Amino acid sequence: MNNKPKIAVFASGNGSNFQAIADAIQTGELEAELLLVVTDRPKAFVVERAKKAGIASFAFIPTEYDSKQTYEKMLKEKLKSHGVEWIILAGYMRLIGPVLLEAFENRIINIHPSALPAFPGKDAIGQTMASGANTAGVTVHFVDAGMDTGKIIAQQTFSINGRNQEAVEKEIHAIEHRLYPSTLQQLFNR
Ligand code: GAR
Repeated sequence: MNNKPKIAVFASGNGSNFQAIADAIQTGELEAELLLVVTDRPKAFVVERAKKAGIASFAFIPTEYDSKQTYEKMLKEKLKSHGVEWIILAGYMRLIGPVLLEAFENRIINIHPSALPAFPGKDAIGQTMASGANTAGVTVHFVDAGMDTGKIIAQQTFSINGRNQEAVEKEIHAIEHRLYPSTLQQLFNR
């Protein structure tokens, strides 16, 4: 028995933030038990990453269910059966609905590639660049029913200083991979 927080990571794509979390658990920087990866895209690269890391993954296809409520009920059962206590969103590109919000109240966390409340929603980095802003950032926040509107836990910003989108994306990901594990560790310890 151990009393480490039991987490599931939800991801829809590459999974580099999943990797950063899994690696931080390996090194002991993040004290948590990573029980499950959940994806809404069965072909997402995160599935390969999970396999390689020896973490169970569960893929579902949202359109095979008649509503968000139906698939979230299914996910809730799945998560509860694994003993999951926290849901960590890492590039999961869907809004969380009332079923999971109620079942995991104040225990769903997201990372977003902008300095919220600026540029919520999809393509936050593209939105940042198109706006002409000189500041980009990363935010870790609690998830509520809105689109990237939950209480902010940690945020890091930097100056763009004429860099192109590719360079800004690189910097954002580098920040994310440090900020997410360290913020989760602080959160779990408070
Ligand atoms: C990350 O940059 C994350 O902040 C962003 O998706 C990317 C996933 O990358 N999330 C959102 O935009 C959520 N609104 P990853 O799959 O390599 O971790």
